[in-house]
Amino acid sequence: MNNIRSQFLSINYRLIRRLIIMQQSLFKKDLEAAIIVGDKINHLLMNSPFKRLFKFAIPNNIGIHMYDLNFPSPIIAASFKDDMSAFLQWQFVGIGGITYKTVLKDPSEGNKRPRIQEINHSGSYALLNSLGLPTKGVDNFINHFEHEKLLSFNRPIGISIGGDNANDYVKVFELINSRVESSSFNQFFYEINISCPNTEDGKCLSDDLNQLSFVLNKLRSLSSKVIVVKTSPDSNDNEILKICELLSSIDKIAINVGNTRYILANSVGLKEHHFSKPGGGLSGPPLFEDTLKRVKLINDNFQIPIIATGGIGNYSQVNSVINSGATLVGMASQLVADPFIIPQINNKLSYES
Ligand SMILES: Cc1cc2nc3c(=O)[nH]c(=O)nc-3n(C[C@H](O)[C@H](O)[C@H](O)COP(=O)(O)O)c2cc1C
Repeated sequence: MNNIRSQFLSINYRLIRRLIIMQQSLFKKDLEAAIIVGDKINHLLMNSPFKRLFKFAIPNNIGIHMYDLNFPSPIIAASFKDDMSAFLQWQFVGIGGITYKTVLKDPSEGNKRPRIQEINHSGSYALLNSLGLPTKGVDNFINHFEHEKLLSFNRPIGISIGGDNANDYVKVFELINSRVESSSFNQFFYEINISCPNTEDGKCLSDDLNQLSFVLNKLRSLSSKVIVVKTSPDSNDNEILKICELLSSIDKIAINVGNTRYILANSVGLKEHHFSKPGGGLSGPPLFEDTLKRVKLINDNFQIPIIATGGIGNYSQVNSVINSGATLVGMASQLVADPFIIPQINNKLSYES
């Protein structure tokens, strides 16, 4: 019965989403306009009596532990949004945990619009974004992240941290950590976003292992919470293996593969007026094969818990990455396309376990 309900909601969600995108693109091709309308509708629904219609229990035999974190399902929301209504919707459909969008020290508007578009990449649906990490800044974050309703689900919550340099990462971490340490909620974890396809100079912490080592050791000395390091598919295998070697020397650490992959906007047919930057981060199905390869590479060489993110959106892909060594599975683009796939995947995981 629950499967029929989730399939019915999937069809409707995709249909309504398509209608909103078509209606919004009558004015200007800019997916963000459709996302804003969708978020408003979602907010109304999640604050109405109808929200119960979207509630799906997570089968009790698919839970996963990663260190002291208990995920009732291995599927988690990757870091890409900080909209509370979306978080609640995903919790209702049965997500195992969520990750806040990357927090930076100072507020930033990000890049100019249009900066996110739906594209066709090698025949499949994908997204291209050059948001440029818009953020309300760390001071705003620490006053809002302990949202009562969100905490009531008691599922792990990741806090993604970014920065322009090593000191920024440490500063943001210190400010957030002082609040996390005084919280009674014990399922927070940190994700360090060392990949940054949207920064102006293209420089990342992943390019400098000494700085990365400094940051991770400093953070480890400040907190005993799980730290996840989120890497980029733009790093090559050799660079990833070196990062893993460093991570192996640090306690309670995990690796997330990975972020979006940088491509040029004109390579997927976007004209200058469709995308404000020459290129951006590709996400969605075209990333899957590389994500799977990376999970296998790390699992064959190291014993670090792996979060597989990139192009994952159905049961068979979830199953492949878990069988190849992933502990958790991150999703972003699929949650934009249709979050009601989550209860369907959870049910299949339950039958197969
Ligand atoms: C619109 C958008 C915004 C994103 N913002 C962030 C971010 O703030 N921090 C981060 O680590 N990753 C960010 N990502 C990357 C996603 O977390 C994820 O790693 C990537 O999209 C690949 O997963 P997917 O194929 O399931 O989308 C963003 C992705 C999208 C599409």
